[in-house]
Amino acid sequence: MKFRKFILSTALFTATLLLFAACSTPQATIVPTSAPTSPAEMAEAMTSYTTPGPTKGHGQGKEEQHGHGHQGHGKGMGMGGPPKGMRERHQAPIPAAYQGKTSPIPADEASLARGEAIYVQQCATCHGDGGMGDGPAGQGLDPAPAPIAHTSQMLSDSYLFWRISEGGAQFNTAMIPYKGILSEDEIWDVINYVRALGSGEVKPRHHVGGQAIDPHAEAQMHAEMLATGVKQGVITQDEADLFAEVHDKLDAYKGAHMDELRSFMGNPEEMQQAMLDALVKSGEITQEQADAFVDIHDRLVEAGIMQ
Ligand code: HEC
Repeated sequence: MKFRKFILSTALFTATLLLFAACSTPQATIVPTSAPTSPAEMAEAMTSYTTPGPTKGHGQGKEEQHGHGHQGHGKGMGMGGPPKGMRERHQAPIPAAYQGKTSPIPADEASLARGEAIYVQQCATCHGDGGMGDGPAGQGLDPAPAPIAHTSQMLSDSYLFWRISEGGAQFNTAMIPYKGILSEDEIWDVINYVRALGSGEVKPRHHVGGQAIDPHAEAQMHAEMLATGVKQGVITQDEADLFAEVHDKLDAYKGAHMDELRSFMGNPEEMQQAMLDALVKSGEITQEQADAFVDIHDRLVEAGIMQ
């Protein structure tokens, strides 16, 4: 199977943002194998990790940032089509009771261990070992379980906390409401774990089924996405090259500075902007290249090629 979009992932804190959308990264992607979750779904799943543009200037950027820019990447997406309604869910207003909630629990080893235990027990059966939405109990669900290892990289704390607490009733999906099942702290632990799965910081150790993340597939998807942009006339080959070059530098920067960037988790636009600013400042790229990168990304998003 081919993926046509990419995913940006944060690398582990070691490396990456999954790029999905615009940036891809070396670290993470799903291996396209027999997964029930189609590539298109994954693609849809990932929101853009890039794009400083759209969210800039919101006072509460975190609340708004998830979801901008998903358009129907229709063509060329391979099979499956985007998971039903994911864009709508990502863009839905967060209920007042959840707005602005941020995690009180640092993603330290103890939290990740607690989160893993919860994930394995409660979530993996649907969302899969690696959080790619491809667990055995998720097959046949419509909409399919979200590839939360990826989506959690760009979704805000408050969105994730809300969705896990309240489940899918509001959207008519099979996602279970966990507020009576898990404590608030447990929900934050499992969020930490899911994000660490997506960033590559932890690897799945239990096996109910489902793919883990694969850097090579990720890189390939990224390249395919740019090629699609060129083919459709959305960007030129030179722009694709420039984008890839800047993207690689962003990945490298991220790998080296993940600790400082952690505070941007869940706020991809600001993270991206901070990294671009830092690269300009250190002279690794020019301001023009940074601006061009953002512009190219915006056009790819607009064309539905990236999210
Ligand atoms: C019965 C299967 C099932 C189980 C078990 C389940 N989920 Fe889900 N989950 C889904 C489905 C289906 C969706 C997609 C529809 C939706 O967003 O409501 C989803 C969506 C989500 C989302 C929204 C992601 C996004 O990108 O919008 C999050 C977060 C999530 N699940 C986390 C979890 C966590 C954490 C657990 C375990 C504590 C869990 N889920 C257990 C089926 C399940």
